[in-house]
Amino acid sequence: MLAVVSRRIRLLKKSEAIKLKEFCTARNLNKTPNDVELLGEKYVTDEWTNVTPKIIEKLGRTLHTTKYHPLSHVRQRIVNYFYGNYRNKCGNPLFSVFDNQKPVVSVHQNFDSLLIPGDHPSRSKTDCYYVNRDTLLRAHMTAHQSELISMGLNNFLVIGDVYRRDEIDATHYPVFHQVDAVRLCNNDEIFDSVNDPEGLELFENRGKESKEKQAVHSLEATKIMEHQLKRDLVGLAQVLFGKDVKCRWVDQYFPFTHPSWELEVFYNNQWLEVLGCGIMRQEILKNCGVNDRMGWAFGLGLERLAMCLYKIPDIRLFSSSDSGFLNQFKFDDPNTPVTYKPISVYPQCANDLSFWLPENSEFSPNDFYDLARDIGGDIIEQISLIDNFTHPKTNKTSHCYRIVYRHMERTLTQKEVTEIHSEISRNAAKLLNVTVR
Ligand code: PHE
Repeated sequence: MLAVVSRRIRLLKKSEAIKLKEFCTARNLNKTPNDVELLGEKYVTDEWTNVTPKIIEKLGRTLHTTKYHPLSHVRQRIVNYFYGNYRNKCGNPLFSVFDNQKPVVSVHQNFDSLLIPGDHPSRSKTDCYYVNRDTLLRAHMTAHQSELISMGLNNFLVIGDVYRRDEIDATHYPVFHQVDAVRLCNNDEIFDSVNDPEGLELFENRGKESKEKQAVHSLEATKIMEHQLKRDLVGLAQVLFGKDVKCRWVDQYFPFTHPSWELEVFYNNQWLEVLGCGIMRQEILKNCGVNDRMGWAFGLGLERLAMCLYKIPDIRLFSSSDSGFLNQFKFDDPNTPVTYKPISVYPQCANDLSFWLPENSEFSPNDFYDLARDIGGDIIEQISLIDNFTHPKTNKTSHCYRIVYRHMERTLTQKEVTEIHSEISRNAAKLLNVTVR
């Protein structure tokens, strides 16, 4: 069963995290000013710097937009849901999608712009990868909220890699991916569905903050927005997990939304936290120059969704380049249901085999696959045709196959593999009439 642990930026529960992470940064302290290069840009380092070379290596991998990567399938399903659900009068999608925001952000973007207090534990060096005292690798995609709103956007998804210092286990990895979304509505849009919207207003003059709403918002506008937000997010959960999925809402606290909730779905016999959301703090909108709208926002982690949807047992698999993993997701329709089949922990061993096809008899790659499988059995994890070449003069065709060997219970020696590989080669020559090169 998957135990997927929450990693939200919130005020509660963080104290537990601090205890865990007193190991901090001594080894990375950089007393003398120095430069570090991230994605082609130089940054001055200081006593806050704690990004490590291993983390820097991870920048720019863009797994969420890599064709056939499981994260990109889940990303696409979410994008498609929002494209389909919200359209303008001309039938075009209302939401814009931002996939390429730079992961190096300012402390202002990641924290201040979101009203996260100066002493909030999520700012600590033990939790974040700082480039220097003013700059860090974003710890959540919400870091881009204010700049996109300031650009005039009302409906957007912003998707990318986020970085957090954490323990390392099957569900935690220092890099993971989030989808954040914002929807801003004006008076007309909010009360669009109301029969007689006369006199209904987004804002209230001498209101008080309560459990249910912010001081500046009217209760009716907040309730309509809450209803729409929850309806749409339950809709998303149903699209991802199936329409019968059981959902529940849990009250939550985030510095940048009020009221705030978490959506949990019942999956594999346990309640799984899927996303955090809420009505955006009006002060954030005001700071972006927006005075006539209120908004909702949510953020979700792609890895934990993909781990559930595909039953992927270890978060490290997402960053692996192992073809035994990646090839299980080679499909064009992101809605294709797949259950991941565990690959062996023992290393792969790839050997190639090239031959000329017979000139006067038929040849089908499937014949070769069967022959190879007959000889190699289950230790053949994968065979792919990596080269198909026809000689311009002789018109002879050659194929090159890459055979990936891997034993499920032990490490194969090259000698064993060579023996099986030669046996395949000999039999192909004998039975399929090919000429091994
Ligand atoms: N940024 C929050 C997190 O990292 C998620 C969130 C986004 C919550 C937007 C509310 C609104 O967990």
